[in-house]
Parts: sequence; C-alpha cells; structure tokens
Amino acid sequence: MFSPPLRGGSPLPLDGAAALHYAVCTMHRSWIEIDLNTLADNISSARAALRRETEIMFVVKANAYGHGLGPITQHAVEAGVRWFAVAYLHEALMVRKHATAADILIMGAVEPEDIPVLLEHRITSIVVSEEHGQRLAEAAREHRVVLPVHLKIDTGMGRLGVPWADAAAIFRSLDTMGGLEIRGLCSHFATVEPGQPERAGVQIQRFEDAVRNIEGASGSRLFKHISSSRAILYHEEWDLDAVRPGIALYGYGTDDTSMRFKTRPLLQWKTSVIQVKSVPAGFPVGYYSTYVTREPTDIAVIAVGYADGYHRALSNRGHVLIHGCRRPVVGRVSMNWVTVDAGRDHDVQAGDEVVLMGEQGRQTIWADELAQICRTIPYEILVGIDPMAVRKYE
Ligand SMILES: Cc1ncc(COP(=O)(O)O)c(C=O)c1O
Repeated sequence: MFSPPLRGGSPLPLDGAAALHYAVCTMHRSWIEIDLNTLADNISSARAALRRETEIMFVVKANAYGHGLGPITQHAVEAGVRWFAVAYLHEALMVRKHATAADILIMGAVEPEDIPVLLEHRITSIVVSEEHGQRLAEAAREHRVVLPVHLKIDTGMGRLGVPWADAAAIFRSLDTMGGLEIRGLCSHFATVEPGQPERAGVQIQRFEDAVRNIEGASGSRLFKHISSSRAILYHEEWDLDAVRPGIALYGYGTDDTSMRFKTRPLLQWKTSVIQVKSVPAGFPVGYYSTYVTREPTDIAVIAVGYADGYHRALSNRGHVLIHGCRRPVVGRVSMNWVTVDAGRDHDVQAGDEVVLMGEQGRQTIWADELAQICRTIPYEILVGIDPMAVRKYE
C-alpha cells in the first residue's frame, strides 16, 4: 500500500494502478498534449480534397504514430473516418474497441491461428504471399469459415506482397481453392517524388496491369488502394477506392504549396524545469564535458532524456522553448535529464514549463526539426516518444 505525501489534496492510501498513476502524475517527467480539434481539421482538409467515393483508411499503427491509438481512433470516427489500417492484430482489436462499426485492415501478416479472432471482430487482413494465402485458406476451410482478405501486390516496394507479374495467377489460385474471399487489392509506393515521377509511375502501371488482369478474369470488381500520404498529396488520379494516409493526418509533410491539402501537427511534447543553477565561465556541463560555458550563465536542468525518446543526437544541437524563447540544449542528452543554457537575462525557475515539441509564444519546434537534426524522419521521432508518458487530450 502506498500513502502519498499530503500534496495537492490527495492524502488517500493508494494501491496498485492508482499508486502508479499518482507517481506518474506527480513526479517531474515529460507529458504529451494532443489537440483533437486539429485532428478533426486535418481529417476535414483531407476529406475535402478527395472524391466522395474514396474512403480514408486512416493508418493508426504504432500507437497512432505515438498519438495514442484509442483516443485518436475514437475521434477519427467522430470526424467521419470509416476505415482504419494497422500493422498487428492486437492493434486491430484496440481499434475495434473504439470503432465498433468501422472496417479494419491489418497490413501485416496474420497467422492461421488468428482466424477465429479476426472473424469474431470483423477484421480484414492482407495476404502477403501465395504460401501465406494457402495457409490461411487451409485453416479457414478446416474451421468451415471464409476469411475476407485483401491481396497485397508488390509493385516495386520490395517488401510484403506477391510479385506484380504473378499477381493474376496467384489471385486465381487462391480465389478458387476455397476458404478466402479476396475483396481487395492493394500495393504501396516506395518513392513518390515530384522530381522523379517515373518511379511511382512504374509502380502504378504495374498495379493497374495486375488489377486489369485480375478483374478481367474474375469478372468481379475489387476494393483497390495504393496511396499513402505523399501519393495522396500529389496524385489525385491514384486515389482509387481508398487512400491510406498516416503522417499527413498527424500534421506532417504537407508544406509544399502544390500539395492538395494542408494539415497541422496536433501533438505537443512538454516537460518542466527541475533545477536552475548559476555557473561561471569555463564550467563543464554533462557527460564527457562536451560543453563548456563561454561566459557566466544559468543552466536549466529539464526532465526528459533518451529514455523518454528525446534523442541523444540532440546533444549540443537541439533547442527547447522556455517562456517563449528558444534555448539551446547544451552538453550530452542523458537518460533522464537534459541541460539547457538559459543565459543570464531570464526569470526561468524550477517548475516552469518547457516545450520539447510544439509551440510557445511565437516560437515552434516540430518533429521535422528534431528529425532533421537527428538525421531521421518525423515518423521515428513521433513513435519514439515514451508510450508510457501521460497523454492529455483536449
Ligand atoms: C502499407 C502502408 N500504407 C500506408 C502507410 C502510411 O504512410 P504515411 O504515414 O506516409 O501516410 C504506411 C506507413 O508506414 C504503410 O506501411
């Protein structure tokens, strides 16, 4: 049993999860704020750019790109989204909890033993190879059920999917063996760059050829989707029956003015100052003393580190916002704490709010800025934020 100190009016003895929650909320550590109105705006912007018949299949894998799968799914449903895509079965089951009527697609390879759960929860999965399809079909026949699937066609991504040239033959074989109902066909672009249209052009050509052969031979019209954010933003003609946006709906990658719609980030990551110390010139800061002060200054220690997903590559390179000003990260980012040079001309105190990602005053720092410094992509920055960090939705 855990008895928290008399602070903030919570003197009750707590046990289990309640004690953990109390500790999480009262210790200095970073938290996340998510603006659900911005999510709704982003979905509306995308929706307005699409034809009415094209579904948005919102990609909410990896904990909705770090935004929190449950609340994001629930609010996306309220904003009119009817399809969701995830990587794994456990994610699909979480989506189902928050979107009882939605269609859900698992974009990874499910196993035959997953079939009863897939059917019970009305979840569609993809078939990634002929052998995968055969195993699923065989298990479905044994259970005397029919499993709805989409056939993934590898048109040049070189990842999951049946080879485009063999897609029609594999479709025919899987479609006639019993146990599967192939309702959809999908693929994924490796590159969509306005400067290199031929790369995605080759892929769409292969997809369209495979679709023509399959639909021509089977006589049935299938549900088709290929475009993720970048393709959606540049290529109206590839929208098909559904598009699969992820990052664009989380507010990234829509800066180019020639794109079809614009979105804004909704996730802010914040923490607080733990300690401020005045130090003289020539004072070494952090592991291996990689930063030495040039003049007398104040160092603010803030509650975040690489254990929370704040990359070590931001050592001596990143910035944070305190009182609306950009302050440089100085010294090495350590596991749980980061040191920031607050200068001398400030009134920064322990307890003050620090923006690691987000906006304060007129300043902004978003995941793409952090990604550039860390030589990665905003996706990795977003999904790398501690999944246990408290997420507040407003
Ligand atoms: C198969 C597939 N479709 C769609 C997406 C969404 O991509 P984006 O976030 O670039 O829109 C992903 C993301 O990884 C994916 O793997």
